[in-house]
Amino acid sequence: MSNDPSASPGRRGPWALAVLAVASVVGVAVWWGMESAHRRMVSERVAAWAEAPLPTPGAPVDTALAALGSDVFQTHCAGCHALSGEQRVGPNLEGVTRRRSYAWIRSMVLHPDSMTRDDPVARALLQSYGVQMMVTGKLEAGHARALIEFLRRLDGLQGSGT
Ligand code: HEC
Repeated sequence: MSNDPSASPGRRGPWALAVLAVASVVGVAVWWGMESAHRRMVSERVAAWAEAPLPTPGAPVDTALAALGSDVFQTHCAGCHALSGEQRVGPNLEGVTRRRSYAWIRSMVLHPDSMTRDDPVARALLQSYGVQMMVTGKLEAGHARALIEFLRRLDGLQGSGT
């Protein structure tokens, strides 16, 4: 009965679907594993900057640190913030290192909830955007330092070439 034309498509269909389902699950698991390994690598690298002082405005950009900051930005911020052009959920961040101090930006990255509650500028932003800023994942001082370097590079400070 193996060449019964009505039997084989019906038998093959579910198997093909099962193989496809398993392959997708494995694919997602591999992607997720690589993604979290990457995040861990970035977290370990920025940790070296956790105790570093904030830069003096106008000091040359550390391009290696800015590159790490760009990575952090893509993972944790880009969903809500554009760097130029259109507005997303939150303000466009172009020029932010000129309109806010580095310490203010660091507080906003690490404690957006207490900033929008206690800081008058952040509270006014919350009023106009209508969405509380929330950052997923665990960001620490090193991440904030790298992000500041990335935003300084965006605002046109030249790299130090380091
Ligand atoms: C869920 C969306 C969301 C995410 C994710 C997010 N933000 Fe925000 N951000 C906002 C909103 C909305 C505001 C305006 C204040 C408010 O409404 O809470 C804001 C305000 C800011 C400001 C102040 C801008 C200004 O013009 O003064 C800075 C700086 C900032 N965010 C940086 C970041 C960084 C860096 C990250 C990533 C670590 C990030 N944000 C992640 C939504 C977000």
